[in-house]
Amino acid sequence: TNRTFTMIKPDAVAEGHSGAIIKMIEEAGFRIVAVKKVQLTSERAGQFYAVHSERPFYQGLCAYMSSGPIIPMILEKDNAVADFRKLIGSTNPAQAEEGTIRKRFAKSIESNAIHGSDSDENAKIEGDFFFAGIEQF
Ligand code: GTP
Ligand code: MG
Repeated sequence: TNRTFTMIKPDAVAEGHSGAIIKMIEEAGFRIVAVKKVQLTSERAGQFYAVHSERPFYQGLCAYMSSGPIIPMILEKDNAVADFRKLIGSTNPAQAEEGTIRKRFAKSIESNAIHGSDSDENAKIEGDFFFAGIEQF
């Protein structure tokens, strides 16, 4: 599809970077389909990241992702999933390319400012996790 899903993570929201991050996203040609600000419980964060439940960083990830408000969004653009992964850069900011959102705003491999879906299938699942059908237009 031409859609992807993202969340501005708690560290970036708390530090006041959400405006600058949304500006980078829009300037890269993405249209915001849906947006809101919410705070997950640790349990809901665990459901979202269930694919990582056997990884050693899972508990920390759930604590981090529920530590403050996040800004989930559905985005639209040609080739959205791949182009958005390119825009955000590597998971580990030490390896993130110049000009990427994580290069500019991520602090560590865990507190890395932003999420981007890794496939069309997951973009749909993740968008539906946060937004009702009537919110996705
Ligand atoms: P997302 O867009 O958030 O899914 O990031 P990603 O696809 O680049 O990474 P991945 O799906 O592998 O991991 C999900 C999230 O778990 C990352 O964004 C980090 O916040 C966290 N994470 C991943 N690897 C590590 C790790 O080795 N240590 C810690 N502490 N956190 C990690
Ligand atoms: Mg991922």
